[in-house]
Amino acid sequence: MTFPKRIFPSPEAVAEAFAERLVQLIKEQDHLTVALSGGSTPKLLFRLLAEKYRSAVDWSRIHIFWGDERCVPPNDADSNYGMTHDLWLAHVDIPEQNIHRVRGEDDPASEAKRYASLIKDSLPMTEQWPQFDLIILGMGADGHTASIFPHQIDLLQSPDVCAVATHPESGQKRISLTGEVLNCAKEVIFLVTGASKTPVLEEIFGQIGNWQSYPAAHIHPSGSLVWYLDEAAWTS
Ligand code: 6PG
Repeated sequence: MTFPKRIFPSPEAVAEAFAERLVQLIKEQDHLTVALSGGSTPKLLFRLLAEKYRSAVDWSRIHIFWGDERCVPPNDADSNYGMTHDLWLAHVDIPEQNIHRVRGEDDPASEAKRYASLIKDSLPMTEQWPQFDLIILGMGADGHTASIFPHQIDLLQSPDVCAVATHPESGQKRISLTGEVLNCAKEVIFLVTGASKTPVLEEIFGQIGNWQSYPAAHIHPSGSLVWYLDEAAWTS
């Protein structure tokens, strides 16, 4: 099992490298489907896309979804959509109909079903799973990815496209893509920065300790996988 990596000096360099990859994909494809993650590193990326690439890209070529969303209203400080909108989407000329947010304000179970149907209607299917062109993932210090946490690692094998997940500490409900969808993507890029991630990364990359208990360790898409890391998280 391999974990292809690219190591960068800083979180800003991680964001810059990813932005370059995203812009390249947008230029290559006129209908790029991307699932975004929340978290701190994507914030740097979204600011960069709004500032440096605002007029360098035909944003009508990208269709945006979320790999996970907190079950809160879009204007809540916890909303991944709200954060993405404020830092990036409000500042670029992207058609509203290209932005497919999870309705975090709605009943979680019914929203998980609605969002799964939307995804299946919007993406090509391979065998039984909808296929994203690109999925951005982060990883928590506990090894979670999207909103698949270690205590709900069975969501990696869920028969559903989306599931209602629960944050292990706060109990906050979330809607998350499930493992089969993540692993069906054409391309998955992890953005992982900061020293807090090092212990789990060492276990995962070394396949030692409790590595199999970490959901992030089980993301091996049929397409390509690259971990974008800063030196604080990983010094090879
Ligand atoms: C979320 C994210 C989550 C995130 C990790 C890492 O909604 O919180 O999707 O999976 O990627 O928690 O977050 P940081 O990049 O902030 O460490």
